[in-house]
Amino acid sequence: MSNNGSVQQNSFPSPSRRISKRIGAIAPSATLAVDARAKALRAEGRPVIGFGAGEPDFPTPDYIVAAAVKAAAEPANHRYSPAAGLPALREAIAQKTYRDHGYEISPHQVLVTNGGKQAVYQAFATLLDPGDEVILPAPYWTTYPEAIRLAGGVPVEVFAGADQDYKVTADQLEAARTDATKAVLICSPSNPTGAVYSSDELAAIGHWALEHGIWVMTDEIYEHLTYDGVEARSILSLVPELADQTIVLNGVAKTFAMTGWRVGWLSGPLDVIKAATNLQSHLTSNVANVSQWAAVAALEGGMDAVAKMRTAFDRRRRTMVRMLNEIDGVRCPTPQGAFYAYPDVSGVLGRPVAGRTPTTSAELAAVILDEAEVAVVPGEAFGPSGYLRLSYALGDDDLIEGVTRIQRLLSQG
Ligand SMILES: Cc1ncc(COP(=O)(O)O)c(C=O)c1O
Repeated sequence: MSNNGSVQQNSFPSPSRRISKRIGAIAPSATLAVDARAKALRAEGRPVIGFGAGEPDFPTPDYIVAAAVKAAAEPANHRYSPAAGLPALREAIAQKTYRDHGYEISPHQVLVTNGGKQAVYQAFATLLDPGDEVILPAPYWTTYPEAIRLAGGVPVEVFAGADQDYKVTADQLEAARTDATKAVLICSPSNPTGAVYSSDELAAIGHWALEHGIWVMTDEIYEHLTYDGVEARSILSLVPELADQTIVLNGVAKTFAMTGWRVGWLSGPLDVIKAATNLQSHLTSNVANVSQWAAVAALEGGMDAVAKMRTAFDRRRRTMVRMLNEIDGVRCPTPQGAFYAYPDVSGVLGRPVAGRTPTTSAELAAVILDEAEVAVVPGEAFGPSGYLRLSYALGDDDLIEGVTRIQRLLSQG
């Protein structure tokens, strides 16, 4: 109201203009949403079992926590530190790269980020101009297309289903290549499918990228979580000539049960790392020093604790895949890495389930949550409908109970 009582025209932007188009177009993280919904239902007292979380259920190993406690008491760590990361951590990452994959990088080729997620975002922001296309094998981790679009890029999905173990071929990538193709993303072991590319498959993709001058973004955050004797190779160890056009994305979250510490990194050519560091210097500055020292302890501390966690994941993986494949209409390839099973549930869609007839995996996931009190992430979060993602990073008893509930529900009709 103005002084004379008349209603003033509100000049504040209309609802459609309050949020920028760029940010307004971002979809919320579907995986975090499922996890939040499961936690909310649990808080209401409902016995929900959650297969949504993308994090190990183990505590961070003691020696890593002890290193952080020590670091917290050290005044130098109470101050800003270099935006690119503590020299000790960049050195530890260079050493670890050589230890795990047999190729050398200098610590200057490493940028330490607030989790692998920030590494993904900054890598795309650093490489892409508006309209640049990124070939994105689907099913994909839900953050990639959003990070590509935020950077002005265009995700170009290339789908590989259960019939090809969720792995794209170099021929498929070639069919998707255009003059605007700037990069390809490889995530092996994969979130959401658990697929691990073999050396031959990776080398074929590497040579294709080399031939056509395409950047390779390789997300190796699940590299140590593999099973059945399978090894996750780095594309750079197989095609070293790619060094000048490859960005490695990685972090301590999954391997060392450190999701809450927020330490990841990217490594790559010096000019890219320098540019990405400039970006980070205005965005977040250095990662929390205490977390960085914890990451140093993780990377230098050997892999015994990881081996124990892997043994538990492996046992749960086999139980889950067996039980899912017992359900009529469900087909679950055996994942060789990460901690996710990715069943094809298209055989269940269109059938009555508890009086409803889900026709998409999103509808099926909703029925499973409502009727069986089990949270799973629908395939729509990662690409086409027709799939569910179930994390097996939860206790054995809950896992068996949760899949048993799904079995019962889907066999009811
Ligand atoms: C494939 C992949 N890359 C990167 C990340 C990022 O992990 P963080 O930001 O916790 O280090 C995740 C986490 O879910 C992931 O699944």
